[in-house]
Amino acid sequence: MLGGPGAYALDNGLARTPPMGWNSWNKFACDGLNEQVVRATADTIASNGMKDAGYIYVNLDDCWQSGRDAEGNIVVDQAKFPSGIKALADYVHSKGLKFGVYTDVGTKTCAGRPGSIGHEYRDARQYAAWGVDYVKDDWCNTLPGQSAESSYTLMRNALAATGRPIVFSICEWGSNKPWLWAGPIGNLWRATDDIKDCWDCAHRPHSGNGVVQIIDLMAEPGVESYAGPGHWNDPDMLEVGNGGMTTEEYRAHFSMWAMFAAPLLVGTDVANMSADTKSILLNRAVIAVDQDPLGHAATRVKKDGDIEVWARPLANGDRAVALLNRSGKALSIGVAWTDIGYPATLRATVHDLWSDKETRDQSDHYAAEVPSHGVVMVTIAPH
Ligand code: GLA
Repeated sequence: MLGGPGAYALDNGLARTPPMGWNSWNKFACDGLNEQVVRATADTIASNGMKDAGYIYVNLDDCWQSGRDAEGNIVVDQAKFPSGIKALADYVHSKGLKFGVYTDVGTKTCAGRPGSIGHEYRDARQYAAWGVDYVKDDWCNTLPGQSAESSYTLMRNALAATGRPIVFSICEWGSNKPWLWAGPIGNLWRATDDIKDCWDCAHRPHSGNGVVQIIDLMAEPGVESYAGPGHWNDPDMLEVGNGGMTTEEYRAHFSMWAMFAAPLLVGTDVANMSADTKSILLNRAVIAVDQDPLGHAATRVKKDGDIEVWARPLANGDRAVALLNRSGKALSIGVAWTDIGYPATLRATVHDLWSDKETRDQSDHYAAEVPSHGVVMVTIAPH
């Protein structure tokens, strides 16, 4: 079952480009989640340009469920969702959006709510009856020796048996190198442990993965080759707007996720976000790179200390390039045409996707001043 692009995808026809939308966890976690938050989020996404930009999924994360009844049916947390999940899914659908829920392959979710083990078909039928379009399946509280591949295959089959098109998101944190086996099972799989709202978390011991830690995990040679239409590496959801990073750092975070062809699941309070946050999340040119139909994820073509160059080919033959500065001061960073598979003499137009400036007749290389903890992201179009 060795991968590589192409004949390696879950055959459900979904997620031909990386899923885009919103998920409750990064901002609202367990305590802040309730039906008012989700309705307000759907209202905002439908009206502030996000839906038009492609943000379609409105996904509940952990803590919507509270138990099981005598027959084993999942019971909804009544305090958080007094109107029930069906009414909420209907509301989200009425806005022209799609609706997702969260579960876990173990006995309990990570927040201690009921998991799906032994109830996979029952849960899948319930999700389909509610009109669920997306299921994220976590990896907490598994039984000793429980196989990730078998567990996620079981849920994939249960979802398929409902006949409803449902995106299947494997949340196994990269523990068992899911890119090696998850392509035929899920539409996306977490390739890394949980993101934290910091640029470089190394200075905060045990606080998890900041943006640069995830970038390094995504640089593992070959991982990018497992991504493609219908089957994506997931470096976790976005922290843009949550307050732990500067605007420049959030711009770099968003740019790099687009380079990875990552799912773009916004994790902030969109109903109350700042103009800066909105302008990052709504950069159509960067989103277009993420959503490029070729689905070819970026590789790190250069690393020189704190300087990195990442590149990906696009469906029209252009290249997208990110010049990444991880250092504490502004630096000039260049990309050579020969590093991205172009002959040095080729003439091209370089489009800076954040400043929206174009440079024509560029050959051999392109260099730009990149702010500290920032990215200059360009497309390079031969002419
Ligand atoms: C795990 C997942 C997170 C989130 C939480 C919820 O940590 O990786 O994305 O779903 O569980 O408890």
